[in-house]
Amino acid sequence: MINDVYILAIETSCDDTSVAILKNQKVLSNIVSSQKIHEIYGGVVPELASREHDRLIIPVMKKALKDSGIKLNDLNAVAYTRGPGLLGSLLVGTSFAKSLALSLSIPLIEVNHMEAHILSIFIDDNPKQPNFPFIALTVSGGHTQLVLVKSVSDFIEIGSTLDDAAGEAFDKSGKIMGLNYPAGPKIDELASTGDFKRFKFSKPKVDGLNFSFSGLKTNFKNFINKHDKDFVNNNLNDLCASLQFTIIDILLDKMTKAKDIHDISDFVVCGGVSANSFLRKELNNLEIKANIKTYVPKINYSTDNAAMIGINGYFKFKNSDFGSLSDYSISKYNF
Ligand code: KG4
Ligand code: ZN
Repeated sequence: MINDVYILAIETSCDDTSVAILKNQKVLSNIVSSQKIHEIYGGVVPELASREHDRLIIPVMKKALKDSGIKLNDLNAVAYTRGPGLLGSLLVGTSFAKSLALSLSIPLIEVNHMEAHILSIFIDDNPKQPNFPFIALTVSGGHTQLVLVKSVSDFIEIGSTLDDAAGEAFDKSGKIMGLNYPAGPKIDELASTGDFKRFKFSKPKVDGLNFSFSGLKTNFKNFINKHDKDFVNNNLNDLCASLQFTIIDILLDKMTKAKDIHDISDFVVCGGVSANSFLRKELNNLEIKANIKTYVPKINYSTDNAAMIGINGYFKFKNSDFGSLSDYSISKYNF
């Protein structure tokens, strides 16, 4: 009978190499090495990402172990991101996790990256937790989804983007303005002193709970192309604030719609874009405006990290939901 469960978790789905150690729901260490190499290319280069994971995975694991004070032999399981993500990047984490679990003769647990983003709200026994069933809005560089969550192992997608993700809308529009990848955090910063009412960009008309961001991206691109570089540089703060306002408004509209359709008022908002400060502020207002109670993971658990893989691994360990050495990486891993 095991009392405390020690899990080593690995995340390598995109351009962050991360290893975390958890004792039950508590994070003992969470090391994230964000690959800088992609900045000059204006987006993630898959082949370079896999090579960087390969180079970084052992030093990152060593640091995570050292910071946690845990030894390899204390571990009860290894959890890893099986997908969705870039196949080459996933393969590094998957192979590493399998080898580690095999060498230590402990269970291997496969984790869906998007489920992990949602369950990150339960990290560190967070005292502010949603009640089941709740709805999750997952907003990252690759995904924008609304998910009905009935338990830690029961997820149903109720809406998703028909084209670009919300994070892509930030990153691609930022690139058009000459900002480095990923542009989301920089737009957030520049927008804080800008006027969001200055420019109007188009909001898509999409039925039901689905999203679309490609029309907004084209509208923004056409607007920028009509002006010269000086105009963009002199109005950068207002451009960022107006763009950010439009993206966030689209997300908030669909949350309100989802609440009405499913009659559920507890919402978790997670994924990289949930780090956005304007979104966080507006979510607080939703409680008064639409009777929606929102729960947002701490900033360091919002963007990609292995601690969220660890919390999902912990719940799966408790349910004896183990994977096997024959499990393979899945680039499009649905709920
Ligand atoms: O979840 P994540 O770290 O990786 C993926 O799984 O995609 O999300 C990364 C995305 C990027 O598009 C990045 O620009 C966006 O999250 N992001 C932000 C902010 N911080 C990260 N977008 C807007 N405001 C932010 N503060
Ligand atoms: Zn992610």
